Amino acid sequence: MSEAIEVDISDLPGVGPATRAKLEAGGITTILDLAASTVNELVDNLGLTDETAHNLIFESQRLLREKGILEKDLVSAQELFDRRAQMVRCTTFSKNLDNLFLGGIETQAVTEFYGEFGSGKTQICHTLCISAQLPVEERGLAGGVLYIDTESTFRPERIAQIAKTRSMNTDTMLSNIHVAKVYNASHLELIIKALGNLIQQNGIKLVVVDSIISLHRAEFVGRGTLSERQQKLNGIMHRLKRIAEIYNIAVVITNQVQASPDTFFGDPTKAAGGNIIGHASTYRVYLRKAGQERKAIMIDSPCHPYGDTNFMITEGGIGDPEESTKKSTASWKSSKAAVAEKAEKSSSKKASSKSDNEEEDSEAAE
Ligand SMILES: Nc1ncnc2c1ncn2[C@@H]1O[C@H](COP(=O)(O)OP(=O)(O)OP(=O)(O)O)[C@@H](O)[C@H]1O
Ligand SMILES: [Mg+2]
Repeated sequence: MSEAIEVDISDLPGVGPATRAKLEAGGITTILDLAASTVNELVDNLGLTDETAHNLIFESQRLLREKGILEKDLVSAQELFDRRAQMVRCTTFSKNLDNLFLGGIETQAVTEFYGEFGSGKTQICHTLCISAQLPVEERGLAGGVLYIDTESTFRPERIAQIAKTRSMNTDTMLSNIHVAKVYNASHLELIIKALGNLIQQNGIKLVVVDSIISLHRAEFVGRGTLSERQQKLNGIMHRLKRIAEIYNIAVVITNQVQASPDTFFGDPTKAAGGNIIGHASTYRVYLRKAGQERKAIMIDSPCHPYGDTNFMITEGGIGDPEESTKKSTASWKSSKAAVAEKAEKSSSKKASSKSDNEEEDSEAAE
């Protein structure tokens, strides 16, 4: 990857000083940034013509393909296999949760945790801030962390507590976590656009967005704004996915839940944001409170079997419940059995859950 980063953006055909200045003003300073952009972004935000935007993206992607950083238009399964071999998995410090992910949170992927308040989304993110910094031999990602905090729930003292409990150097851990406090939806969109630079400058191997939807959900209220909101979220999600693949980093996002009144069987709670977030996330995990414990359910994955497992929130971040630590494999179930179990558990709640927000109900259709 370093070879491509050394190629200056001005070396691309058609990039003179004026275009370069426009690109820089928009936070695009490397070939990798350009390759991860969309034509619409370059046209709408930087005022480039359609044709220039198209050519620049095409040329930057061609260069990265030549250097073997981006996949070619047609690749053999063997090449894909080799690329996947560069993927690294990051431990969550919970054996159960790691097993659910067949080893840990993957690079080259977007992992989504959704669940109700207090289900442990932010605690998992805090724990990963520590584990991602560990060397690869210790099942970390050997890199820094970028924490995009949209709910003002990042707590350095919690990081210090986790590090201390695990006898790690608190100062080192804290100084390798870069926190972006984000207060509105357009600020979040700007940060996501600048991600390429931030990742390269700070040696980032994990990007956390906690949460992906809260700002857009709060700002785009009412049915009339739904399609604009979904379009913006779509842009964010696709950029995150491209960034995860191009930079071989892990991206973890959290999402809120909404009631799904049309559910007659199964859990009436579903992830907010409709299909746009669900489709762009590589892995989607639902978190639920289960007494003192938390249950994690693999809802969507291109390669994991359906599974669920329990974990605990502890002083050391995320851990395993006493009894299941001994039999630490996640309890795999056939989809049928799992669906039947979910249906049974929630059948008592099924008809009572009526959403009072029509707009939210139509999210899934977007
Ligand atoms: N140091 C700690 N030790 C044990 N449990 C903790 C600790 N800190 C927080 N918790 C527990 O974590 C839970 C909150 O989890 P978390 O903040 O991850 O929820 P969340 O899913 O992010 O919720 P929200 O949707 O409100 O953001 C609470 O039950 C709290 O008691
Ligand atoms: Mg939270």
